[in-house]
Amino acid sequence: MDVTPLRFKGGNLEILDQTRLPREEVWLTLETREDVWEAIHWLKVRGAPAIGVAAAYGLFVAVRYLEETDKDAFIAAFRETRDYLNSSRPTAVNLSWALERMEACLEAQRHRTVAQIKEALLAEAQAIHREDEEACRKLGENGLSLLSPGMGLLTHCNAGALAASRYGTALAPIHLGQSMGYGFKVFAGETRPLLQGARLTAWELQKAGVDVTLICDNMAASVMKNGWVDAVLTGCDRLAANGDGANKIGTSGLAILAKEFGVPFYMFVPTSTIDRNAATGADIPIEQRRGDEVHRLWYARDMAPAGIGVYNPAFDVTEAKYITAIVTERGIVRPPYEEGLRELFG
Ligand code: MRU
Repeated sequence: MDVTPLRFKGGNLEILDQTRLPREEVWLTLETREDVWEAIHWLKVRGAPAIGVAAAYGLFVAVRYLEETDKDAFIAAFRETRDYLNSSRPTAVNLSWALERMEACLEAQRHRTVAQIKEALLAEAQAIHREDEEACRKLGENGLSLLSPGMGLLTHCNAGALAASRYGTALAPIHLGQSMGYGFKVFAGETRPLLQGARLTAWELQKAGVDVTLICDNMAASVMKNGWVDAVLTGCDRLAANGDGANKIGTSGLAILAKEFGVPFYMFVPTSTIDRNAATGADIPIEQRRGDEVHRLWYARDMAPAGIGVYNPAFDVTEAKYITAIVTERGIVRPPYEEGLRELFG
């Protein structure tokens, strides 16, 4: 599985523009802080772990040509850029998590020269990238232990290789199972309004040779009722300490349906996505996006009357009581989550 959403190559930060998929594969070079902010905000690079990795490299790229003689000015510019990038999207905690790691790196190196600090910042971004890839690999192994060959699986949005450094989170066990001949039958919800399921998951799984069927979001109850779904697998953008998890809008409805139909609901959460400062889902900021994404963006013509009011939250919170297990790179956590998640961090 060679799909990756970004690479740091020849000193350049390059991202695969996900707004152009599945029609064309276009790589963009991000050179300025504005490039990075816009790429994250407009979902050219998206998915919680990928946003974190892109922001870490982006912060380095944005400060790397700054003057080296005045260290205080460099540190002030670094912090201003960090805050600016942190404002690009609010829900995925990986963004602030990665930027805080870069800040901690700067703090640890501040006695050194600016040139040395810059080197350390690049090394830190590369470590975040490497560690994310390794976490996704382990999520795949841990997730696969919950599944059996031939299962029908339902997923939502894109929690695949496109959303992380490699393999993905919720799609990692599907990719791993595919390489081992598991023969999963996957249903991908299209994921209104931005269609990450149709544009990205369907593309990524088809490319990997997985048996994938696209459904509209409102068909989930039907496929479950037909007995075609043995497990629901989703990613997460921010998990609270009590196990409530924010993920793409529509996820909580799937979890409620899964409970009704007796189907296990697994949320895939690298520890970089756990926000221990959020006590419950009520503490998670939910991104609100432009109304025209709902009725205009993907259509040749407007699909609603002019002047219509639109409510467009990009995420919802799935309450812990609907989650059968939380899969992390450190292990699988079962309820009660508060205790299990605390143990994960020792
Ligand atoms: O708005 P997006 O496309 O960034 O939303 C992404 C999701 O909701 C994913 O499911 C989540 O980031 C977990 S992905 C590894």
